[in-house]
Amino acid sequence: MKKINVLKPKFRTKEILSEIEECLEKGWTGMGYKTELFEEEWKKYTKLPNAHFISSNTVGLHLALNIFKNKYGWNDGDEIITTPLTFISTNHAIKYENLTPVFADVDEYLCIDIDDFKKKITPKTKALIYVGIGGNCGDLKSIKSLCNKHNIKLILDAAHMAGTFIKETHHGTAYTEEHVGQEADVTVFSFQAVKNLPTADSGMICFKDIEDDKKARKLSWLGIDKDTFSRSNKGSYKWKYNVNELGFKYHGNSIMASIGLVQLKYLEEDNDRRRQIADLYDKHLSNVKSIKIVKTNIWVGKSSRHLYQIRVLNKNRDLVINELYNQNIFPGVHYIDNTEYDLYKKYKGTCPNANQYSKELITLPIHLDISDEDVTYISNKLKSIVNE
Ligand SMILES: Cc1ncc(COP(=O)(O)O)c(C=O)c1O
Repeated sequence: MKKINVLKPKFRTKEILSEIEECLEKGWTGMGYKTELFEEEWKKYTKLPNAHFISSNTVGLHLALNIFKNKYGWNDGDEIITTPLTFISTNHAIKYENLTPVFADVDEYLCIDIDDFKKKITPKTKALIYVGIGGNCGDLKSIKSLCNKHNIKLILDAAHMAGTFIKETHHGTAYTEEHVGQEADVTVFSFQAVKNLPTADSGMICFKDIEDDKKARKLSWLGIDKDTFSRSNKGSYKWKYNVNELGFKYHGNSIMASIGLVQLKYLEEDNDRRRQIADLYDKHLSNVKSIKIVKTNIWVGKSSRHLYQIRVLNKNRDLVINELYNQNIFPGVHYIDNTEYDLYKKYKGTCPNANQYSKELITLPIHLDISDEDVTYISNKLKSIVNE
């Protein structure tokens, strides 16, 4: 029987190999060349003003906090509001910079709840990391207004959001769709191995302010400042450069960018199929009383549909997953409430909804190898397991 996994990347192997071959023939696999092409294509696609290709989303979140901390003079211990319902990278990034995570609870979209966000703001709050889980936008627009009001920087963890568009209304009923990220001070994407734009490991950091982008380019290459030196030396002595601050080795490379360039060509097509799969699940499951489908956002934009999540209300979630395993269906859980982990246990109990949902959540298989028949099969099995 076919084994149905929760996530599975699709690679256009021949096209990717030919793109990589160009790098190998040219003898250029590192930063520059394809990384620059990918950055340009990403900007064209998203219409974000800046894009810097990096080795992962995790390093991008760290870079964002490092740059803002120094730029705005934040102190150790200053507070960053964040979600407990995320991959641990989001919250580790805060700790890398000796900042303090303050957990805000989530809403029905599994994104940060605006009312709890309000409650968690203190004079020490400097930024909010908002995770668009599964491609969901939640109440991002109202969150942005609140950030503006309190001078809180908005960092969008868009690890799941490649190809998520928000509907912008203009003059009454006319509207356009904008790729997410325009509203944030910085948006960080992930192109990790099983994301909806998979490479192997890489990401994109997109700052609103071009000066932050320049800083990120320098810091992601160990703080090496080639620009000032080449300016003052009119481009001669390429091996000479200055290093005036402590940077990191966080930049991306041309092999990953080659994969990304090909994957980006198919992103819309792939996300369309993901949305079809999600609609089919909706059709099968929307009348099942003991299953609550997690909705994507309050505006009718397009979700990347990186995930399709449900909450099981009447049965032990782990047992439901075990029973699905017995049917060769291998769902996932996104995520365990991070305050359940030892490293974050002192924050336990601060977000009751996230804690409850984290015990109920199941991510159903959604990827390009799933047929309509698979969706029917999975939905029927699930219904019989929850007795409906
Ligand atoms: C919500 C979220 N944030 C951050 C990350 C980290 O991304 P990366 O693996 O590119 O570092 C992930 C990856 O799984 C994620 O799901």
